[in-house]
Amino acid sequence: MKKILALVIALALCLGCASAFAEKVGVSMPTQDLQRWVQDGENMQAELEKNGYEVKLTYAANVVATQIADLENMITDGCDVLVIASIDGGSLGTVLQSAADKGIKVIAYDRLIMKTPNVDYYATFDNYKVGQIQANFIIEKLDLENTDKVYRMEVFGGSPDDNNAYFFYNGAMDALKPYIDAGKLVIPSGEVEMEKVAILGWGTPDAQKRMDDLLAKQYSDGTFPDVVLSPNDSLAMGIANALEAAGCTAENWPIITGQDCDKANMKNILLGKQSMSVFKDTRTLAAQVVEMVNAILLGDEVPVNDEKTYDNEVKVVPSFLCEPVFADISNYKELLIDSGYYTVEEITPEEAPAA
Ligand code: BGC
Repeated sequence: MKKILALVIALALCLGCASAFAEKVGVSMPTQDLQRWVQDGENMQAELEKNGYEVKLTYAANVVATQIADLENMITDGCDVLVIASIDGGSLGTVLQSAADKGIKVIAYDRLIMKTPNVDYYATFDNYKVGQIQANFIIEKLDLENTDKVYRMEVFGGSPDDNNAYFFYNGAMDALKPYIDAGKLVIPSGEVEMEKVAILGWGTPDAQKRMDDLLAKQYSDGTFPDVVLSPNDSLAMGIANALEAAGCTAENWPIITGQDCDKANMKNILLGKQSMSVFKDTRTLAAQVVEMVNAILLGDEVPVNDEKTYDNEVKVVPSFLCEPVFADISNYKELLIDSGYYTVEEITPEEAPAA
């Protein structure tokens, strides 16, 4: 009995020590407004805790000053590694200098941190490929290779303070350019350049506002575009809302692209109000980041698979690029339900699909 008691005490002491000395990882996410970041945060926390780390997880309500304050607290709190999905990739230079001064390693999560030498690694999805997947969907759906028809397209871009937005835009536009040059895709608004089509902050209401304006200016005869290139789901939602408000119906609903497979957008895909999305399995990204954290803290070689693409204007940041996957009504069950990412209920629309 005494022996057992001693063993229990020893075990308790040991666990106590382990948690007192557990290495700390700070995870700074941009916002809880978008479903994907909530999922990213939850997955990161679960994976890191499974690996024995103490985790400090914060969301910054898309306010840069809040994210900087979050990071300052993590540094003061003794975090050993910081994992950061930045709001504005170019605004973290000063706080990351303080991290570097304390020998804290930094992993940029999903979005590259710009204009600082103090970002050590980058884990993301292949962002150029995301744009390519969206463009290839449009090319195939409209059979642009073989058609003689002319289709009207409007273009949306992501937030200009997010480096990813340019990769999505370039991936899509490089693939669509031959068909624009050939006159098979025309852009009635003439708004094509990133400066004209970008939506600062990735907000649904701002995308809706721009689509409202485009419809009022370019489509006042009651017609609608045939295609709207949207880089992600939050913008696709705003675009769909504007079309609906303008009286667009299933017969003339355009092709709309997206990214993230957010629950609300999966419902729209099932209702025929969005054509596709790009699935970036946050579980894969979280697992990859945990491997990076483990390697950093053990002093092992950190796994990367790209050392040339992501230049943050000070250095090329060693990166690990995960594979984004095409998702639409034909494969969503296998991708999202069978894999346990969502339950059927979570993405079942309340209303019936349009006839
Ligand atoms: C992410 C996208 C996301 C967008 C808006 C991008 O940096 O890669 O997945 O839709 O930010 O939050």
